[in-house]
Amino acid sequence: MSRQTPEQRGSFGGLGFILAAAGSAIGLGNIWKFPYIAYENGGGSFVLVYLAAILIIGSPIMVAEVLIGRRTQQSPVGAFLVLAKDVAGGKAWSVIGWLGILAGFFILSYYAVVAGWTVYYFGKCVSWSINGFTAETAAGLGTEFGAFLGNGTQQVFFQALFMGFTMGVVILGVKGGIERTTKFLMPLLMSILVVLALASFRSPGFGEAIGFLFHLGPIDSAGLLEAVGHSFFTLSLGMGAMITYGSYVSRQDSIPRATATICLLDTLIAIMASLIMFTIIFGVPVAERATTFTSRSATILFTTLPRMFYELPGGVLLSPVFYLLVALAALTSTISLLEVVVAYFIDVRGWTRRFATMVVGGLIFLFGVPSALSLGASPALTGLWGRGFFGTVDYLASNWLLPVGGLGIAIFTGWVLSSSVSQDEIETGHGKFGLKPLWMFLLKFVCPLAIGWIIWTVLNGGDFS
Ligand code: PHE
Repeated sequence: MSRQTPEQRGSFGGLGFILAAAGSAIGLGNIWKFPYIAYENGGGSFVLVYLAAILIIGSPIMVAEVLIGRRTQQSPVGAFLVLAKDVAGGKAWSVIGWLGILAGFFILSYYAVVAGWTVYYFGKCVSWSINGFTAETAAGLGTEFGAFLGNGTQQVFFQALFMGFTMGVVILGVKGGIERTTKFLMPLLMSILVVLALASFRSPGFGEAIGFLFHLGPIDSAGLLEAVGHSFFTLSLGMGAMITYGSYVSRQDSIPRATATICLLDTLIAIMASLIMFTIIFGVPVAERATTFTSRSATILFTTLPRMFYELPGGVLLSPVFYLLVALAALTSTISLLEVVVAYFIDVRGWTRRFATMVVGGLIFLFGVPSALSLGASPALTGLWGRGFFGTVDYLASNWLLPVGGLGIAIFTGWVLSSSVSQDEIETGHGKFGLKPLWMFLLKFVCPLAIGWIIWTVLNGGDFS
């Protein structure tokens, strides 16, 4: 099935896997999406469910994905075909891989649109820094952003640009492209976030932001599904991205240690980003807040931060650097999304990397165009299916495909895959894994029950509040 040797497929060296996987995990999910969905879902309880989901659902599934990848040296469809050969269900397990490819296709299509915004804002901040900041009020920033969303040509241009960057890196392959790009990026991004977080301590909205983030209120079933769905999205789980990256992991690396590091970094960045953004939101007078953020919370990354930057000493420098880093963080995620789909055509169909990347990237771009136009440029697409085209694709992929994929991976690893295989793979590069019984328990019972229960409740229109 695999037409390439491991040498031809490529592999990560040294810290390469941790960095690439952290690069995949840390992205717009942390800096753009988490703050606004936490805001929409009322803060505290949502954050708590999200943290619990990372710990008891996300991290065990991440270990499972990476070990499936490293064991089989295959991307998702191929991996399940190899492992499921002699087990109950056989080839049918590869459906999980197919769902993953579909999810990757869907997510990348609209993710590239938002990633394009970060590139545009990088340019905008450069110009603000040189010519002076012209959008002093939150409402002013909101209006500017609205005009940008309504400009279809700009939306598609920046989306295309971003897809182009992503395809360029994926064509260069695992070591030359993916690893090199992620290596220097994460430390820089973290440092700027820390500077911003420190600055927000002293801002007027900080107390209220903390209160909002940690105050426990009621949460409904849709909010629960969203929190669990987001724990998959933010860790890049449920669609085989970690299976694919796992297939490039060296046998000297410890899978549990890498997983713990990735989950921790990812969570820290999401919480810091939210704290910073909420501080700004709650620093704005209530009346202005309502018009600016409530109607369009999905844009808070672009309608809040610039104002804070230009009040900070050194902000003139920090703000373009920040949006550049967010764009690069998005790039390390889009690379992994594209890689999942491309790797299928390389591993299972025997296409060349270049050809697979061009065809798949081109198709994903086309599918993303309606998303790019659905946020203002085309009212018909904005209202489509109640959530708009963009919102619908996001909803289907992150709230359904990823959790269902994760459910499949948990059941497969917990119940179907032989325990000696998973034990052997986990202990390779790690030594004795004392948490194995706990990990198995979570995969076998907790993950399937929790995900199944949430999906069932939402399907039945139930409410948890
Ligand atoms: N984890 C990425 C983020 O938080 C998004 C992503 C999802 C990447 C699924 C790969 C796979 O931005």
